[in-house]
Amino acid sequence: MCGIVAYIGQREAYPIVLKGLKRLEYRGYDSAGVALLNGELKVYKKKGKVAELEDFLSGKDTHSHIAIGHTRWATHGEPSDRNSHPHTSGNGKLAMIHNGIIENYAQLKQELLKKGHIFKSDTDTEVLIHFIEEIQASNQCGLEEALRIALKRVVGAYVIVLVDQDNPDTLIAARKGSPLVIGVGKGEHFLASDASPIVEYTKEVVYVNDYEIAIIKADELILKNISNERQTPYIQKLDIELAAIEKSGYDHFMLKEIFEQPQTIFDSLRGRLDAKRGTLTLGGIREHAALLSQAKRIIIVACGTSWHAGLVAEYMIEELCRIPVEVEYASEFRYRNPVVGEGDVIIAVSQSGETADTLVAIESAKQKGAIILGVCNVVGSSIARISDAGAYTHAGPEIGVASTKAFTAQLAVLCMIGLKVAQEKGSISQQRLQHLIDELDGIPDKVATVLKLNEQIRQVADKYKDARDFLYLGRGYNFPVALEGALKLKEISYIHAEGYPAAEMKHGPIALVDENLPVVFVATRDSYYEKVVSNIQEIKARKGKVIAVVTEGDQTIRGLADDIIEVPAADELVAPIVSVIPMQLLAYHIGVLKGFDVDKPRNLAKSVTVE
Ligand code: F6R
Repeated sequence: MCGIVAYIGQREAYPIVLKGLKRLEYRGYDSAGVALLNGELKVYKKKGKVAELEDFLSGKDTHSHIAIGHTRWATHGEPSDRNSHPHTSGNGKLAMIHNGIIENYAQLKQELLKKGHIFKSDTDTEVLIHFIEEIQASNQCGLEEALRIALKRVVGAYVIVLVDQDNPDTLIAARKGSPLVIGVGKGEHFLASDASPIVEYTKEVVYVNDYEIAIIKADELILKNISNERQTPYIQKLDIELAAIEKSGYDHFMLKEIFEQPQTIFDSLRGRLDAKRGTLTLGGIREHAALLSQAKRIIIVACGTSWHAGLVAEYMIEELCRIPVEVEYASEFRYRNPVVGEGDVIIAVSQSGETADTLVAIESAKQKGAIILGVCNVVGSSIARISDAGAYTHAGPEIGVASTKAFTAQLAVLCMIGLKVAQEKGSISQQRLQHLIDELDGIPDKVATVLKLNEQIRQVADKYKDARDFLYLGRGYNFPVALEGALKLKEISYIHAEGYPAAEMKHGPIALVDENLPVVFVATRDSYYEKVVSNIQEIKARKGKVIAVVTEGDQTIRGLADDIIEVPAADELVAPIVSVIPMQLLAYHIGVLKGFDVDKPRNLAKSVTVE
């Protein structure tokens, strides 16, 4: 949610920052801007995508060795040129980019207005830079000191990066609650919201911690805490390759990521599952496995697609471990004073590991004595770092805003956690454990088989792309898959879609059914199968159009449905990893056929770092 990039060093800064903004565009694309320093400070910003900023700057003098850039997802103030970042101080000497929200900006703004400050935008960011400028002037102090004083009064979340015309060899950055990575090169530094703009230049990075301020010169990186004490930068090696963040010949990142799934699921399982020996090793929870098996209950907190993965995990873990599981929207959980304490285990599921609601929810649960397990994709992310234990999903960078490969990797990891706890608890027989290990082991091949149906699914998409609404239905383990299918469609095709437990439809949504309503059934062979067949008949009796995802060879539903998508048979516990693939492809093709930018759907951003 908002991407920030900065560079300081010997190279031309603008092309590096511009490329970085393109890589970070998935975090927000309402508007974009850069500030370049070459003797004087020049700020260019535009409503729209980064490409529009690039056009605007083409032919202009962009020479500089220090620059900051921003791609925005609007919070305060509509997307417009004037609300775009960077924002400048009243004297025009400071420019700042910001990712996050300054919650007490209204109060600060009032104080500043009384002191004569004039604002050009509606943003909280401009208030903060004026506030820093005001402190600098009234305390007669340097920028670093002014920033430190300002941040003590600021309520909210932020990563900010400042450039100062009077100190042209220094960038100053600070972080609380939003991510900031600094790439360490030879005589140069790169700053960004995540590693994707950096990996091309250096693999050595420092993840800045909350309440730290970084003073960055071309050849020097100083980290301090808010009390002005020096901190030792901890340099880590990035383990992503450039190819992982490029489209590699696919039309869209979303399609590339859908097609990567046989490999990414394999990567999630690799080194953890040994089907030949029937063993399961999850290093990240090894020390907590006994504690987990004694949990009074498990609460899964997450948002969006990750919440859907949590719903599948609820069924899996209750089934395997006989431990009560609740699944909560992080945004509700954090505010509703839930009963949590010692003996509770919280599993936080998050692709980005930065989702503000999930992060705050687990922070407060941790304070109350709960054990936190993180299931994150982004290595080194905030949620991963504050968790007591956990397991990475290892799906690699997910750039498409609509989550796909992260979801299937989450399901694989959550299933392994369930199996591990069940094994520890003794609630699963060796025979069943071996069977489910074999099932998981076979999933990458089954997903590859479903991907061969891409063209068939495109044709189904073409047939239904003009529908106004869609209903997605499933039962049991396939109910969350229906929710996920509906979410994917809404996100990238802007078609209204609802996911429902198939049996629940007769308590309301069935009123929507007529010959114009496509109903997608996730109806693979499982313990609910016969019931789902009845639900399909109920829809057909009302002339609804049925698109059914079924197990290969299913003749019963073939005789009922308008369109059939056959997927390989799988145990119902792991079947969602297979049955979600047609949901992803259907949404993708409908979005593309309708002419939308599926990688950057309107109003959305990946990594929602504001509440
Ligand atoms: C849907 C989607 C979002 C995210 C949600 C949580 O396609 O991407 O619903 O799943 O914002 O994000 P993470 O998993 O990063 O916490």
